[in-house]
Amino acid sequence: MRRKLAAGNWKMNGLAASLAEVEALAKAHPAPRSEVLICPPATLIAQMAWKAKGGPVMVGGQDCHPEASGAHTGDIAAAMLKDAGASHVILGHSERRADHGETDAVVRAKAEAAHAAGLVAVICLGETEAQRDAGTTLDVIGSQLRGSVPAGATAANTVIAYEPVWAIGTGRTPTLAQIAEVHDFLRADLATRLAGAADVRLLYGGSVKPSNAAEIFATSNVDGALVGGASLKAAEFGAILAALDAA
Ligand code: 13P
Repeated sequence: MRRKLAAGNWKMNGLAASLAEVEALAKAHPAPRSEVLICPPATLIAQMAWKAKGGPVMVGGQDCHPEASGAHTGDIAAAMLKDAGASHVILGHSERRADHGETDAVVRAKAEAAHAAGLVAVICLGETEAQRDAGTTLDVIGSQLRGSVPAGATAANTVIAYEPVWAIGTGRTPTLAQIAEVHDFLRADLATRLAGAADVRLLYGGSVKPSNAAEIFATSNVDGALVGGASLKAAEFGAILAALDAA
């Protein structure tokens, strides 16, 4: 039985005052059935982890460096995230693949570093609109999956997030049949390579909001969501969490 996961990606949003949202979320949902994760900007991880201590909300990073330490100005090692109180790290988000030229090999190396530090890697995959229009979605997803997920991945240390690039921050979502097609494909492809693949959580991400959450969570092989904009406010993210708990 896979425990559902509601994950929030705050991206480059949030100042100290935003920590009140996490307190409000924990107060409104003290004992959710699903796991709850918020990945704030790095500047807020330690404070958020401190405030969330003892409650249902887990805290994660949005990226880490593949190496354990060294001369990499501005970068953050996986062990530093862990030390600050993070349990998870998002890796290979399409915004990092696009803005920072991250390849599948880089994402895989980062996931290995995350695992070595004891973090759960939330590895993101997704096709662009041009790739979907060209009919190559499953080829793209399959090659990202094989290239980005390390051999040591398990259900305990890895979560996969399917985030179609064209659905991120646009208000557009794939049809439920399109989501099911990709998630069923991910499940089947993982099963050919990883022991325990049936237990790996598969999240959908891209314009998830309270009004579409329930139908997405009822879709085949969807074990939760990776939420951007709608995770910034406790009321909205709480409504998505409630829909996941009810699914
Ligand atoms: P939105 O929910 O804002 O579309 O963002 C999705 C996302 O990129 C989460 O990682």
